[in-house]
Amino acid sequence: MATRCRTAVLISGSGTNLQAFIDRVGCGALDLELSVVFSNKPDAYGLVRAKNAGIPTACIEHGDFAGRDSFDRAVAAKLDEWQPDLLVLAGFMRILSAAFVAHYAGKILNIHPALLPAYPGLNTHQRVLDAGDRWHGSTVHFVTEELDGGPRILQGRLPVVASETADQLAARVQAVEHQIYPEAAGWVGDGRVEFRDGRTWIDGKPAIDPVVQTFDAVGRRL
Ligand code: GAR
Repeated sequence: MATRCRTAVLISGSGTNLQAFIDRVGCGALDLELSVVFSNKPDAYGLVRAKNAGIPTACIEHGDFAGRDSFDRAVAAKLDEWQPDLLVLAGFMRILSAAFVAHYAGKILNIHPALLPAYPGLNTHQRVLDAGDRWHGSTVHFVTEELDGGPRILQGRLPVVASETADQLAARVQAVEHQIYPEAAGWVGDGRVEFRDGRTWIDGKPAIDPVVQTFDAVGRRL
């Protein structure tokens, strides 16, 4: 890995996780170079956050392409202008083609708002409430061809509060994400965590389970 890990952040929306990265890098708590912020939506507020922080931005709209493969090729060609060491998917709501994942093999991180392997896919917060689960959270993982199925690195878990709405739960999960995602990306950036042989390696050893951090109901790490 390069001395300072060149990082591309891919977004589709608000970009609160992107903001957490910007803030951490800005105060010296995270040693990544935020090289470019890419969006598939021109009105994504995350692009404004990037511009405010002086980070280059790029946008390619998926609707302009006939299919996933041609869109993904265009995205990779654009991102490669910055020669990224790491791609951070931060609310990038596109399924990636196998060719795109292979192009950046072992270099793509995602955060998914559930304690994977539980609840891959969409509407995770409502599904957790409907199931009556006591714990929920978010997972940082390497991206493979399997949707939300790549090897896990770090999970933040927090207790579900009886009677809260899905939106309230989502907000509490996001507050946890803002703590765990920059931390996990920093581990990858400094080489402590690697993707090797299809699994996560932590401190030179294959990891069966992710690191799990527990938070209280208001997002304080316990
Ligand atoms: C995050 O909560 C992230 O977990 C979720 O999108 C949100 C983006 O928020 N990602 C997924 O659902 C991916 N399957 P943000 O734009 O404010 O960072």
